[in-house]
Amino acid sequence: MCGIVGYIGKKDIDGILIDGLKELEYRGYDSAGIATIKDGDFSEYKAVGKIKNLEAKMAQTKDDKSYNSALGIGHTRWATHGKPTELNAHPHIGDYSYVVHNGIIENYKELKDELVSCGKTFVSQTDTEVVVHMFEYYFDKLQVAKDAFDKTITRLKGAYSILLISKVAPTNIFFIKHGSPLAIAKSKDKEFFIASSETPLIGVATKVTHLEDGTSGVINQQNIEFFENSGSNKIKNIKWQELPTSKLSAQKDGYRFFMEKETYEQSDVIADTMMGRISDEKIVFDEIDENFFENINHIQICACGTSYHAALTGQYLFERLAKIPISIEVASEFRYKQPLLQKSSLFIAISQSGETADTLEALKMAKKAGLTTLCICNVDNSSMTRFADKTILLRAGIEKAVASTKAFSTQVVVLWMMSLYIGKTKNTINKTTLKNELKALKQTPKYLLVDDKMHQKCQRLSKRYLHGHGFFFIGRDIFYPLSLEGALKLKEISYIHAQGYPAGEMKHGPIALADEKLFTIALMPQSLLADKVRSNVQELIARDSVVLALSPQTFELADDFIQTKAGEHYMHEFFSMLVVLQIFSMELSIRVGNDVDMPRNLAKSVTVE
Ligand code: M6R
Repeated sequence: MCGIVGYIGKKDIDGILIDGLKELEYRGYDSAGIATIKDGDFSEYKAVGKIKNLEAKMAQTKDDKSYNSALGIGHTRWATHGKPTELNAHPHIGDYSYVVHNGIIENYKELKDELVSCGKTFVSQTDTEVVVHMFEYYFDKLQVAKDAFDKTITRLKGAYSILLISKVAPTNIFFIKHGSPLAIAKSKDKEFFIASSETPLIGVATKVTHLEDGTSGVINQQNIEFFENSGSNKIKNIKWQELPTSKLSAQKDGYRFFMEKETYEQSDVIADTMMGRISDEKIVFDEIDENFFENINHIQICACGTSYHAALTGQYLFERLAKIPISIEVASEFRYKQPLLQKSSLFIAISQSGETADTLEALKMAKKAGLTTLCICNVDNSSMTRFADKTILLRAGIEKAVASTKAFSTQVVVLWMMSLYIGKTKNTINKTTLKNELKALKQTPKYLLVDDKMHQKCQRLSKRYLHGHGFFFIGRDIFYPLSLEGALKLKEISYIHAQGYPAGEMKHGPIALADEKLFTIALMPQSLLADKVRSNVQELIARDSVVLALSPQTFELADDFIQTKAGEHYMHEFFSMLVVLQIFSMELSIRVGNDVDMPRNLAKSVTVE
């Protein structure tokens, strides 16, 4: 994540950059920093933690005045490479230039080695620092700032939005957008503003353009130029749009609810989760040593709610791919059952917030018993990430809706990657399987895209499923934990009773409930146990249950049918169905008039037992 801002104008630049960063704080708040040029004088400030710490640091020198000319860049960080320290905070500084960056430079190690061998000295652990040194390396050779910037960006691999200022071109901000978001706005007062999202731009500027990947450019006080294809000289024509005037709607990017926005974001977000962690032959987790799993012969996972469902999903993947014994427990049960803990077990806590009291206490118990602990979490610097021996961050960005969506998909992706990581370490998967799994992982983002037609169908169908005496969500194998998640999503925001159940288990009791007022949501993948699930669904249809089938293949016996995407891997079907379940629940909640983002009786972070 991370957020970046930039400004060129004549006003109080410190205030403008700080206000912009505050609007982007949701993208990360491990550290923040700014670098400015005011009437030719350079200065920079950095602080660990939230923007208010940076603000406090600047308060002693801040002057609130206007300038004949001012420009600057700022950054709020969500740590990916290196701890949240001042040295790792942006802007990164060379001998005469400053850089802020959002994204990940995947080839930073090789670029760093190259620059070190040319005599450059690095002070941070970040991937970003290579950019500023690379720019200065090329400037020293070429003596033209734009050429040096262009040359630099052609060397970078990964995803990035970058702003660069330099004493050798003191009236310019250079920018590039490639894979991470960047918007540029202008006001009527000859000012330009740059930011990672629209919110900081609202109220200060009137027109905006959201850059396309590969667009680079340079701004000075009179002019802005955009170029096509990273680092070329070919002028790009862009379209300016009116900026909205409401900040709230901008935070939701035009979506009606945060849940809707977060559901739609999933495809992009899991690409962030995988970024820099997946290659053609292996999974890389920079956060743990390669021998981390070496002496582990059992894994114990604890979590609550949706995170628990991700853990259950992970269990199938771990057993199938990593072939390691694994136990999953709801954290509130684990705490009091006097579990038998062995030091050769690895304890994993899974949590979006990192603050859930039950999961945190289970983690503390395991640590006290001498187990190695790992936390899979979305919020860095949360209680769990501080407590666990190691943390793997989800990189899902702030999740605001109480109903968890993108935290779940990123948790499942991390567990899938981890099962391959262990499988490779322990030699439980052969090369071909690993290669196919990695290929499937890389293809996953497209299965999380929300299809307009599917969304409209959920909207239409939601009307038909308001009455009755409740829902069963059924599935087999990995689609069983998905059925649990579908049922949880529906009940927490629609307040209609729903239960997830293994499809093959219905005949052992619950099928007694089947009648025309029992709704069944049947998860019917084509890649796993298709015939078996079909028989289970037919048993319910024979007893008059109303069935909504989710499947890539038409299933005529069902009352309703939503076509999901077929894929090369069962996990593709899993993610395609997940999106349908999330959208269907949301539409039902809207239909009954509930507060989708803040359902009754719940809280985003459950810090009580
Ligand atoms: O922050 P956590 O992942 O630890 O939270 C666990 C549960 O409270 C959470 O997943 C809850 O079930 C959600 N509201 C589900 O949408």
